[in-house]
Amino acid sequence: MNTIFSGIQPSGTLTIGNYLGALSRFPKMQEDNNCYFCIVDEHAITVPQDRLELRQQTRSLAALYLAVGIDPKKSTLFIQSEVPAHTELAWILQCVSYVGELERMTQYKDKSHGQEAVSAGLLTYPPLMAADILLYSTDVVPVGEDQKQHIELTRNLAERFNNKYNDIFTVPEPHIPEQGARIMSLQNPTKKMSKSDDNQKATINILDEPKKIEKKIKSAVTDSEGVVEYDKENKPGITNLLNIYAGFSNHSIDEIVDMYRGKGYGEFKGDLAQVVITALQPIQEKYHELYESEELDDILDEGAEKAAFVANKMLKKAKKAMGLGRVHLKR
Ligand code: TYM
Repeated sequence: MNTIFSGIQPSGTLTIGNYLGALSRFPKMQEDNNCYFCIVDEHAITVPQDRLELRQQTRSLAALYLAVGIDPKKSTLFIQSEVPAHTELAWILQCVSYVGELERMTQYKDKSHGQEAVSAGLLTYPPLMAADILLYSTDVVPVGEDQKQHIELTRNLAERFNNKYNDIFTVPEPHIPEQGARIMSLQNPTKKMSKSDDNQKATINILDEPKKIEKKIKSAVTDSEGVVEYDKENKPGITNLLNIYAGFSNHSIDEIVDMYRGKGYGEFKGDLAQVVITALQPIQEKYHELYESEELDDILDEGAEKAAFVANKMLKKAKKAMGLGRVHLKR
């Protein structure tokens, strides 16, 4: 049995990229592992957020975790800011991180590029993510490809701390899916699909209505060849749609390519829209029930308590290893 940790930011409505790269894989993992799933609201505030929207999205993300099948009896589901050990360990890990290595993070470079005022939190975001993971002695972190670099940094920080102070942290492994690790924008298939994209047509949100999904898939950028084929270099649009199709159905890419031999993009896109709509429908129904329920508050309260119990023990070890606090004379 492994310990698994993963987190998602409540910084916008979740996309099918988040779903295929991360969320959809979690329910299966909870069957034979010790799982922690977190709503990382403290990561979300590294860029400006509307306070009312953030709170709503935090609740919404909790409901979504449950709607896809996270069972609070099997997994610990909680909100990052409700377990203060995360930011405390993050500070300690910032003190073992080098500014140079943080500045080299691709996500930092992308998000800070061309911005006038960049928050210090955007730079120190990865040590907070490392704290999330290391507090729970995590063995495996299921994420999409874009987070791989942050997990590598987490491994480096854990090893650096273990060597320098005391061997307390488990060095985690990333778990990146073979398919769906990097779902691309529907409007620019060389760019990652992102919940913060301003172009509504570029993303499909998990909570989008059927009509909207259909419209967005029909207007997805492809090419003029008219042949459904997997070719990342020359046909990034169709390749992305094939990845989405495979992710939401039980068919492999090869099977789908066979199914659409000699058929046009119109038919392919129409069927894909139905596949996505059918897969998301039960999740959307459960989500709406859960969002309004008081049960959700009970689940999150209990989750925070369970998480804090484990996290505080590790935090204590880390503080002791670094010499924080005083010498105790009183016995
Ligand atoms: P976030 O909130 O940006 O994304 C949540 C998860 O979705 C994956 N993902 C994608 N997968 C495939 N295709 C895409 N287009 C796509 N976009 C996003 C992400 O890889 C991620 O798994 N820093 C993290 C949150 C975090 C975290 C953690 C994750 C904080 N602490 C500890 C794991 C462990 C983030 O911003 O993910």
